[in-house]
Amino acid sequence: MTDRLIILDTTLRDGEQAPGIALSPDDKVAIAHQLAKLQVDVIEAGFAASSPGDFLSVSRIAAEVRGPVIASLARTTPDDIDQAADAVKAAERSRIHVFISTSQIHMEQMLRMNKQEVLEAITESVTRAKRYCDDIEFSPQDATRTDPDFVVETCRAAVAAGATTINIPDTVGYAMPEHFAGLMTKVYDEVRQGNQDVILSTHCHNDLGLAVANSLSAIEAGARQIEGAINGIGERAGNTSTEEIIMAIKTRQDYFDVEVGANTTEIVETSRLVSRLTGYPVQFNKAVVGRNAFAHESGIHQHGVLQNRETYEIMDPAAIGHESVLVLGKHSGRAAFADALSKMDIQLDEKAFERAFRRFKELADRKGEISESGLRAIISTQSVVPRGEVKLVGIRVSGGYDQTPEAVVTVERGGVEQTVTGEGDGMVNAAFVALQDAFDTAATLLDYRVNPITSGADAMAEVNVIVQVGPATFSGRGVSTDVVEGSARAFVAALNKTLPDME
Ligand code: KIV
Ligand code: ZN
Repeated sequence: MTDRLIILDTTLRDGEQAPGIALSPDDKVAIAHQLAKLQVDVIEAGFAASSPGDFLSVSRIAAEVRGPVIASLARTTPDDIDQAADAVKAAERSRIHVFISTSQIHMEQMLRMNKQEVLEAITESVTRAKRYCDDIEFSPQDATRTDPDFVVETCRAAVAAGATTINIPDTVGYAMPEHFAGLMTKVYDEVRQGNQDVILSTHCHNDLGLAVANSLSAIEAGARQIEGAINGIGERAGNTSTEEIIMAIKTRQDYFDVEVGANTTEIVETSRLVSRLTGYPVQFNKAVVGRNAFAHESGIHQHGVLQNRETYEIMDPAAIGHESVLVLGKHSGRAAFADALSKMDIQLDEKAFERAFRRFKELADRKGEISESGLRAIISTQSVVPRGEVKLVGIRVSGGYDQTPEAVVTVERGGVEQTVTGEGDGMVNAAFVALQDAFDTAATLLDYRVNPITSGADAMAEVNVIVQVGPATFSGRGVSTDVVEGSARAFVAALNKTLPDME
């Protein structure tokens, strides 16, 4: 019988550790729901003890998301274990993932612990975690730079204390595929003896561009769980890309002895959502989800694909959720808009529908036609009820080459309109200055990205910003055919999150 490969997705934990990503609890819950639609087996929802925000996100995901196992990461301290257990307790099925560093350099420089102390910490923490939950994962951090015999010793200690999954992380992306497979074989042979139910797992980083290759090599050595993040995001160069593993296994069923249970048609939607909410663009030539992953440029290739798609395509783009010919125009009414939403499997309540429809009409009047990706961008910026309810009514900018750029911005709050002006070193900056005045707050722009949604001179653009107000960061998105207006909408969305909750 072919074994099932467990997919653990860590977009919300290791993925979120990528520099500049600041997901709100609402964003994380939205991504977790989408991961459940993708049918990953385990969602590592966060690191509960790392911050109150992470605790809240993990708890909400555990309470609201059904299907996958919900896991929280924990160090080997009692407080970490207790917080992780508390955060995942409402899940249908929960897991605590305990980790500690095992390489000489980490033990000396970071933990200041010797081998014996590390072994004791593993036994105590896994025993404590086991009192709360049956499903316990253990990771010896920096395993690929650890003495392999000590890797085995730590894993045996964890299994003896009750760990059910043993995860071997290539924390710094140092391993080569054959070396990694060798380490996995050793752990398989020496740790699973007498413990055949223990699942072996891998967690690879991409510092040398080998995360996916190393993970796949581990499967051949007996791994039955792979950890990854959507779009490969994560610390430094990122993690194994979840979608690349899923598609490698699905596409090469002739080669691998395992199968995955994911619903591949949700891959593109999941990738887009993660990219939108994190502000991390997907590189054009990214495997599986890049916008060029199924684009054929040379005449010979185009000719081949027209004759038979399989001449140059090893995967069916529709099976991954690519492509759609849904287009709405400025004459499309509510019924056509609702029909498009239902085809995209999007449900909005009445108010969110009206807001999204109004914005669609404004943009369709200017642009003529709106494609599916444009519709998704509009919905993603309009379907969340803004907490503070400040709305952008209009923006005018002037200035240019020999004149200081100025923005005149009108906003509405509680039915009252207010017009403010701002000057800056560019038009976007002037809008940002004016909006800080409207919100009566001082903010710093930490990150600013413009992603074209459609091509051509009248393209729609999606603007993602991260702003800092005091010690906290807030993200916002805006969509428009005009970059300055899209930026102002993104600033308003971010600054609205600084206002007190009115719900
Ligand atoms: O890369 C790593 O070692 C980790 C562990 C916490 C599993 O993320
Ligand atoms: Zn990691």
